[in-house]
Amino acid sequence: MRVLILFGTRPEAIKMAPVISVLRNTPGITPIVCFTGQHRAMALSVMEVFGITPDIDLNVMKPGQTLEGLTADLMMALQPVFEEQKPDMVLVQGDTTTAMVGALAAFYRHVPVGHVEAGLRTGDMGQPWPEEANRRIIGIMAKRHYTPTRLASENLRREGVSDSDIIETGNPVVDALLFMRNRLQTEAALREKMASVFDWINPVKKLVLVTGHRRESFGKGFEEICLAIREIADSTDADVVYPVHLNPNVREPVKRILGSASNVRLLEPLAYDEFIYLMDKSDLILTDSGGIQEEAPSFGTPVLIMRETSERREAIDAGVARLVGANAERIVEETRKLLLDEAAYSAMSRVHNPFGDGTASLKIAEDILKNASAS
Ligand code: UD1
Ligand code: UDP
Repeated sequence: MRVLILFGTRPEAIKMAPVISVLRNTPGITPIVCFTGQHRAMALSVMEVFGITPDIDLNVMKPGQTLEGLTADLMMALQPVFEEQKPDMVLVQGDTTTAMVGALAAFYRHVPVGHVEAGLRTGDMGQPWPEEANRRIIGIMAKRHYTPTRLASENLRREGVSDSDIIETGNPVVDALLFMRNRLQTEAALREKMASVFDWINPVKKLVLVTGHRRESFGKGFEEICLAIREIADSTDADVVYPVHLNPNVREPVKRILGSASNVRLLEPLAYDEFIYLMDKSDLILTDSGGIQEEAPSFGTPVLIMRETSERREAIDAGVARLVGANAERIVEETRKLLLDEAAYSAMSRVHNPFGDGTASLKIAEDILKNASAS
């Protein structure tokens, strides 16, 4: 069975890496790994850490790419891949343009789609934008829906997806995280390398880790986020570390507003092993990232989500993450509370990951095999 695995961005690479690794070791399945190149440096760095060499690299990224241009380029680039590779199934992950166009291209060729991380919904088409639409479009076309949680499965049932097509596997982000954490715990040389990369971490100061990149926040929302972080840096003695996404719409306000703060360290995007190490060393995370909301609960590191809504309610319901919006006042208030009030901090600092147990990739492979033998 020829399974075409499509991915294009950093989070897709992280979440597909364990799936690729399991499928490569599953007799009866021939994985064809296709990197669309929607991201370049950020996804290549993940592939290097996980030792993935794609069979196909479509190299579509353009600096400052538009959604229209990217969508059109991806569709045209995928056509010969389907013609030449003749896959029996296509796997896409999440809600990016790569995943949405990949599912549509497969549908046009009558190739069944497996959707990894299926069923996430905010119920608001504007947030996250355009991802809420992308994941719904993929949901309409997918044949097998690999959901991370019960809530995600319920979302799909409500939309009329048949129970027999929903497979609750957990999210392979947890498989990737456990793999990397195990390496960091067992490989002394890697630990030493990390300690040297992060030799600036001051153990007596609180460390706040920040990331941000959502399109719906660009402009005013993103300025608010940066102004809030500036105020936190100026009004507390915490250290702030911010690996800055390569999107130019993110880098301009971040550098302008935060570049001159002495206790804010702006970094280039980190390699995955470095980022996992840094999450573990952080006291608090401020982010709008989906993947980081799923990873932080494994470290007991509280997360303030700088968005108005989240499709990852499980972490909020578990009390380990909280929505603070892209609103400067709220971000500053909630951050200061967690930095200064020990009781408030410990109430949110619990190790509990509702998004998976590290076996998602195995369950996805099992389902693919089962369906191959049934058809
Ligand atoms: C994309 C996804 C988003 C995901 C995010 C993960 C869509 C619509 N958006 O958003 O769902 O959460 O990735 O980070 O699919 N760039 C580089 N090098 C890189 C990566 C990006 O230079 O390695 C710059 C380029 O100028 C590029 C821009 O970032 O044009 C935007 O990349 P794009 O993939 O279009 O959007 P993201 O905001 O990264
Ligand atoms: N990440 C990373 N280096 C960084 C920042 C994040 O490896 O400098 C990882 C992080 O561990 C998570 C993923 O990238 O797994 C999140 O990616 P991003 O925030 O870009 O996308 P999202 O998850 O919001 O789609």
